[in-house]
Amino acid sequence: MDTKRLRVPDFAARKRQGEKIVMLTAYDATMARLLDRAGVDSLLVGDSLGTVILGLDTTLPVTLDAVVHHTRAVSRGAERAFVIADMPFLTFQVGVAEAVRNAGRLLQEGGAAAVKLEGGRPVIDVVKRLVDVGIPVMGHLGLQPQSVHQAGGYIKQATKPAQAEALLVDALALQDAGAFSLVLESIPADVARDVTRELTIPTIGIGAGPDCDGQILVSYDMLGLFDGFVPSFVHEYAKLGDAIVAAAREYASDVRAGRYQRTTPVVGAGLSTPDK
Ligand code: KIV
Repeated sequence: MDTKRLRVPDFAARKRQGEKIVMLTAYDATMARLLDRAGVDSLLVGDSLGTVILGLDTTLPVTLDAVVHHTRAVSRGAERAFVIADMPFLTFQVGVAEAVRNAGRLLQEGGAAAVKLEGGRPVIDVVKRLVDVGIPVMGHLGLQPQSVHQAGGYIKQATKPAQAEALLVDALALQDAGAFSLVLESIPADVARDVTRELTIPTIGIGAGPDCDGQILVSYDMLGLFDGFVPSFVHEYAKLGDAIVAAAREYASDVRAGRYQRTTPVVGAGLSTPDK
């Protein structure tokens, strides 16, 4: 495992070298530290924090302040992983100047190294300007959760040839505008493979088949922590939700029986609070 922090030019280099990029979402310092220790290359503070952390139905109400707050925590926890902050709904669509100011806060106050934003040709002016002023941008095409109402739900995108063609045009436009990488969400695997072949910047897939240059998942989904809607493409690598319920039940029964006491040493490489 490479122990160097990934930087913007490394994304394209990884693609050239055929080395996959590993990404997960993170929302707090403890999780960031654990995922960083596991060797995850890059952590996205996604606006998915609205659903997985704040209990909202969609990502639409997520505010810039909320993403700044969580990005600051993730930046503190991530020593090696490249931290990217999501631009929430209406923080980049209203005007280029406002987008620059908002993206700037994610770097300046949040400590992110880059921002991600949803959309293709309609947001090209914003992407160009952000890149021009030194703010690295990751694009996001395919299923765009901030457009859930327009799309009529969380539905697979680019399933028809004309839509796949339009997605490729958007992807090339983002690359030309200076985006350093591109998330492809919930599109057919063959469309993702073709787009990946056409681009020199790496694609990061989520529900887009195995041929993207990297993969991202919502960490709470792949860890089995989120008990809301989990997309069918998510592989659960652990069942932490069940482990938490079992541990809390055991603790509750110890407390209720008056037998709670610390009986075993804490294991876990310094993550727990040390004994006083
Ligand atoms: O908000 C998010 O977590 C995302 C990823 C799922 C790509 O946009």
